[in-house]
Amino acid sequence: MRLLVVGGGGREHALAWTLARSPSVTEVHAAPGNPGIAQVAQCHAVGLGDIGALTDLVAHLGVDLVVIGPEAPLAAGLADALLDRGIAAFGPRKSGARLESSKTFAKQVMEFAGIPTAEARSFETAGQAIEYVEKLGGPVVVKADGLAAGKGVTVCDGLSDARAAILDAMEQRRFGDAGSTVLVEERMTGPELSILAFCDGATVLPLPAAQDFKRSLDDDQGPNTGGMGSYSPVPIATDGVLDQAMDQVLKPVADQLAKMGRTYVGVIYAGLMLTAVGLKVVEFNCRFGDPETQAILPRLQSDLGELMAASTQGSLSGMKVSCSDRACVSVVAASGGYPEADPLPTGFVISGLEAAAQLPGVQIFHAATAERDGELITSGGRVLSVSALGDDIAAARSLAYRALGNISFEGMRYRTDIAERTAREVLSGSTRRR
Ligand code: AMP
Ligand code: GLY
Repeated sequence: MRLLVVGGGGREHALAWTLARSPSVTEVHAAPGNPGIAQVAQCHAVGLGDIGALTDLVAHLGVDLVVIGPEAPLAAGLADALLDRGIAAFGPRKSGARLESSKTFAKQVMEFAGIPTAEARSFETAGQAIEYVEKLGGPVVVKADGLAAGKGVTVCDGLSDARAAILDAMEQRRFGDAGSTVLVEERMTGPELSILAFCDGATVLPLPAAQDFKRSLDDDQGPNTGGMGSYSPVPIATDGVLDQAMDQVLKPVADQLAKMGRTYVGVIYAGLMLTAVGLKVVEFNCRFGDPETQAILPRLQSDLGELMAASTQGSLSGMKVSCSDRACVSVVAASGGYPEADPLPTGFVISGLEAAAQLPGVQIFHAATAERDGELITSGGRVLSVSALGDDIAAARSLAYRALGNISFEGMRYRTDIAERTAREVLSGSTRRR
């Protein structure tokens, strides 16, 4: 099978790298790709925003399957454009991608399907949103309705925070049109986990759970980012929790979308919180998580190409996902100033990658890198995902940080506490590994 991966971040590098190792896959292409992806795939300089050029490229290459990595082209209808030309696409149509591109729509789907989630209301004017926050009195979360690269959510400590977040989105238009509708949501508490599942429109097949670290600084301080690190497996994701996630969240959402005429093919990402009153959905995404993918795929033993092809052919039923018992921890190396600086300082030379990549069990995924005069330089906020496999989370974690210790670029920063608590619990034997 010949494939094209659309995208050029750390998630797409992990996808292309895994697909290149899949027995069913003979050739991997990427658009636009990045210098890391270029080591495992043939990259084509076509941007994500140009659906016409992407479909032309795919038709020209004659690939068997297109894997769409990021949410933006999905929300813009890339899968529709490909399917209309008879080309197989792994990723939902625009109508299914709405699960991520409108948080208001996602809430409606959850309400229809009886899926547990936080109470929320949508507003189109700041005044009404603020009035509602004042009436609620309790802690809230303010969310831009549309796509905001993981940064459109403000977890508020009090009324003045909430008011500022609402005005920021709706009056200052910090997220552009994505924030012209805002959701005010009850603030939940509890540990989070991400479950990513293949879906062929009817059958849902989960990958092992991962946990993502969304805040920019250690101890979950600082603003939300796209994700600063991840690990898998997750001890709190017991078999009981996974069964609940399947029965109460993933199967019902796939069924509900099909009922609404929005049959969903691709990955459904459920961001879940284990609250005191049970499992609740924090968000849905319409694609693989970034950086969860960089911690899940190094553990995958099944043929990823086969699972994706089966998803597009409606033949997932009866298939299995098998994974190594080893743990994986992935730490993001980011540019100084990420996520807030605008513009971000980039263009700095990255050194030490070869030494880091030589450590057995380490895999480095490029997220925002470019080449200049034969040197590798930074080109965005999240620059690299450094993933490491180990016999348990503690071993994987210490290897990931050892690898990071070799890497440097001006302004480089990373969280030092990715998977720390879980590693400590594993070492002290207070959780069983699953
Ligand atoms: P989202 O982009 O919707 O996943 O939100 C980003 C992060 O904000 C989540 O991973 C949570 O840590 C936090 N968050 C979102 N919604 C809530 C909520 N209702 N209660 C508490 N935290 C939340
Ligand atoms: N890691 C969160 C996301 O992919 O949206």
